[in-house]
Amino acid sequence: MIKIEVKKIVKALNASDGAGVKLKRSIGTPEADYIDPFLMLDEFGSENKDDYIAGFPPHPHRGIETVTYMLNGEFEHQDSTGAKGVMASGDVQWMKTGRGIIHSEMPAMKEGKLLGFQLWINMPAKLKKNKPEYLYIKGNELGSYKDNDKIVKVISGKYKNVEGPEKNHNVEPIYFHVVLNEGKEFNFDAPEGHNSFIYLLKGELKIGEREHSKTFDSSLILLERGDKLTVRANKKSEFLFIAGKPIGEPIARGGPFVMNTKSEILEAIEDYNNGTFAKY
Ligand code: CO
Repeated sequence: MIKIEVKKIVKALNASDGAGVKLKRSIGTPEADYIDPFLMLDEFGSENKDDYIAGFPPHPHRGIETVTYMLNGEFEHQDSTGAKGVMASGDVQWMKTGRGIIHSEMPAMKEGKLLGFQLWINMPAKLKKNKPEYLYIKGNELGSYKDNDKIVKVISGKYKNVEGPEKNHNVEPIYFHVVLNEGKEFNFDAPEGHNSFIYLLKGELKIGEREHSKTFDSSLILLERGDKLTVRANKKSEFLFIAGKPIGEPIARGGPFVMNTKSEILEAIEDYNNGTFAKY
């Protein structure tokens, strides 16, 4: 048994994407460039509509999966496979872009509070040229565990007997959303070879046995390898616990395209410019 300890605590950076949506980026920054297999993590949240109303107009992706988890608000998704739908509070959209998808994500709300996350998971070379797949998961289809100490929503992986809807995945992802009451513990037996992290939305946590610097809201807590996770809430806390099996291949990034080599990025740009990008 190896206790999982804190490796590094990283402050999410203010950024903007799409047509000027304000967000906080933690993975995909100089401090946490690539936590194999995770390429990017954004928290998008605001009470001010001007921060999100312009949305994410049509744009392409290749070679990655995007997992969008909407905690509060409504966005409309539309893509080149013909998939279309409104994401409401609690819903998840799991998109495997494979060879290429062009999509838009626009607010279906005119005002009010927006809060959500987008995680990018890398795809191995052998899956990067696949046909895109789109999985829409309603909030009530997520796994849900509740006791006096905590609530655990399970998007993928298994907590106690509760399993998430995304299964048989090549990186065996674990994606939990945990609300932990003050003074209580969250314990989990993790697969030893996985890379993992906690994203603390709000609250204050003590993780593992070793002393670590104080956690703060909107921080990425990178974890060392191990199989026994213990998280204690110094005050009521809300966080994501995410883990996945590393892919171990070289990566080349080109904005919304993530491939293995630079020439494959150039090929993606060429395909996009000549209109063959989203043809299968
Ligand atoms: Co996108």
